[in-house]
Amino acid sequence: MSTTPATSHAVTVTVNGDEVTRDVPARKLLVHFLRDDLDLTGTHVGCDTGSCGACTVQLDGVAVKSCAVLAVQADGSSITTVEGLADGDQLTALQQSFHEHHALQCGYCTPGMLMSATTLLAENPHPSEDEVKVALQGNICRCTGYWNIVEAVVAAGKGGAS
Ligand code: FES
Ligand code: FES
Repeated sequence: MSTTPATSHAVTVTVNGDEVTRDVPARKLLVHFLRDDLDLTGTHVGCDTGSCGACTVQLDGVAVKSCAVLAVQADGSSITTVEGLADGDQLTALQQSFHEHHALQCGYCTPGMLMSATTLLAENPHPSEDEVKVALQGNICRCTGYWNIVEAVVAAGKGGAS
């Protein structure tokens, strides 16, 4: 007889290149699955209501707010979290640009900003300032450091961190 609760489902996802399978309660949000089950705490919870963007990850290459997705809905998908951006100590050009442009203060919004901006740059490698602002409109920075964030994304799109 199975010990798996009837409300749990086996979920298999590829996260940052590694395939994982876990039994997940049907109502568990993707953000809690990533943080609590996979210990990927770089994905932050700012509101739990789809408003702040701190929980943004890539789901099959699309930026999604992981507090607005059930973990079971991600079954079979490929997910990239902020932990999957750098290659060891080698930051991406965008991460390096955030560093050089001082595009973070407390850093709480930063993972979500990076994931939204990474998705933008994959679709539009050289975005204008206005295009960056539109792409990041779902991400709130409570420290209001928007100017440096936009500047960092535009600079990364120009092919340089500075
Ligand atoms: S925690 Fe998901 S949008 Fe705020
Ligand atoms: S740097 Fe603090 S919330 Fe954005």
